[in-house]
Amino acid sequence: MKIPKLLQFAVLVLIAYGIFKAPGWFGVPIPGSLIMMYMFFAVVTILLVMTSTEKSAQELFTPIKALVDDPSKAMTRNVVFAVIPIIGAVIVFNQVKPSFEAPVELRATHPAPPSTLRAFNKSFNIGTLENPMRKLAKEDPAKFKELVKEGGVVYYRNCFYCHGDKLDSKGHFAQGFNPLPLPFQGKDTIAQLQESFVFWRISTGGPGLPKESTPWLSSMPIWKDLLTEDEIWKAILFIYDYTGNVPRSWEK
Ligand code: HEC
Repeated sequence: MKIPKLLQFAVLVLIAYGIFKAPGWFGVPIPGSLIMMYMFFAVVTILLVMTSTEKSAQELFTPIKALVDDPSKAMTRNVVFAVIPIIGAVIVFNQVKPSFEAPVELRATHPAPPSTLRAFNKSFNIGTLENPMRKLAKEDPAKFKELVKEGGVVYYRNCFYCHGDKLDSKGHFAQGFNPLPLPFQGKDTIAQLQESFVFWRISTGGPGLPKESTPWLSSMPIWKDLLTEDEIWKAILFIYDYTGNVPRSWEK
């Protein structure tokens, strides 16, 4: 009995896939992207061999042509043309399906900051850095109030999209991000931090985070490229003032 060429083709492709997929090649499984590449070359090679003569090419393609042309095969044709896109859609859906599960790795939300921060053509010592505007709270309360208000303007121009108009991290973009933006309300985030730490986090954003805070991709922007030093300090005054939190400071 002669095996139809199209079936031969399918079997050869499956065998090639089985060979690449079989465990134990070089002791490790081949990554999916490499298998895709190998399969591409395998299919091209099999096609080249199977279509090397006019006759074999015809034998291979006749059933395909019949499926498309032959009026008696209308039912099969409809099924094939419906099933193939559905399979494709399922495969693509499974690949791009968003996953909101936390990665297994542990992630430090408040990692140790670097000792110095380079920004605004200066070098800041994070260990001793203080908010230069904080002292005005006692020395000139009217001026301080003004600065907090200006910080609010900075916040509502730049930050509330993610951190929320009530500083509760429920900004309208927030749901799209993993990790989620952090809320400033409550006692878990900025209340635990010194202003120098917050200044560092705002200045260098997600990309400034050290290794232990990866592998999550923080969307927090690098604000030192977008705001001035004063704007950042004012925004910090605002986020503490609005939430009624007090920054941690060195024990006196
Ligand atoms: C595109 C969304 C986005 C915008 C806009 C944004 N942030 Fe963030 N921010 C995040 C995310 C996400 C995190 C949490 C991940 C991380 O720690 O980097 C975060 C973290 C922070 C933290 C760290 C808090 C902590 O407890 O460690 C501070 C402070 C902060 N943002 C301040 C700001 C300020 C101030 C602005 C505006 C100038 C701003 N953010 C704008 C997304 C954003």
